[in-house]
Amino acid sequence: MVILEGKNVTKRFAGLLAVSDIDFYLQDGEILGLIGPNGAGKTTLVNVIAGVYRPSEGEVFFKGKQISGKKPYQIGRMGISRTFQVVKPFPGMTVKENAAVGAMYGAGGKNKSAKEAIQRAEEILEFVGLADKMNKGADQLSVASRKRLEMAKALAMNPKLVLFDEVMAGLNFGEIDQAVELIKKIRESGMSILIIEHVMRAIKNVCDRVFVLHHGEKIADGTVEDVLNDETVIKAYLGRRYKELTH
Ligand SMILES: Nc1ncnc2c1ncn2[C@@H]1O[C@H](COP(=O)(O)OP(=O)(O)OP(=O)(O)O)[C@@H](O)[C@H]1O
Ligand SMILES: [Mg+2]
Repeated sequence: MVILEGKNVTKRFAGLLAVSDIDFYLQDGEILGLIGPNGAGKTTLVNVIAGVYRPSEGEVFFKGKQISGKKPYQIGRMGISRTFQVVKPFPGMTVKENAAVGAMYGAGGKNKSAKEAIQRAEEILEFVGLADKMNKGADQLSVASRKRLEMAKALAMNPKLVLFDEVMAGLNFGEIDQAVELIKKIRESGMSILIIEHVMRAIKNVCDRVFVLHHGEKIADGTVEDVLNDETVIKAYLGRRYKELTH
């Protein structure tokens, strides 16, 4: 079953075409990778799906219902959550309190008491491997733990679909492999995932399919193997850097 679908999605900022007439879909239980150079329009597309921006043209559907034009909190309640590329912990709150906020604002969050939200936060922090840091201030965490907290806040919302925007940026190889395992575990627990990542090691290990944006346009989509060997993609994005990483 298709859980998320975009049709002719375009987002303009004044004269700049950040996302240009994109079609995409995500099946239930699928991990879809979204890659492309800096400024390609990846985060803008996440913002369109999450309701931060209304598309300038086109439509987005979640479980067959149109969501484009809805507010972020409405889309969150429907079962989509997202992380932020530049992590956004609530300052002055503990790790546990941060995750509890997610629990109160996601699917079913309206009916949760503070106690239930805290309980959910504890479960999620255990799940992402932050149980031992629950009572720390969010601003005391290392980069890798901050990224995990960003994921925990999104997962605490109890989503059916989660949008991960560069949750592995700044991590070392060991930490990336741990994050890959976590993402596999998230899918096994019944969620679909859209993942933006520059780390090809991760894209190769977790994605079922990938699509590539370049200057707002979709230049390729398909299996990981086909896309990563596509001449247009190598030229526009992967280039030498990819060869350095894989050889
Ligand atoms: N709010 C905004 N107002 C004006 N222009 C914007 C806005 N947000 C993004 N842009 C522009 O839209 C284009 C796409 O940006 P976007 O952040 O989506 O790229 P990206 O693919 O996520 O890049 P990166 O890999 O660096 O995160 C860029 O040219 C960017 O400068
Ligand atoms: Mg981005």
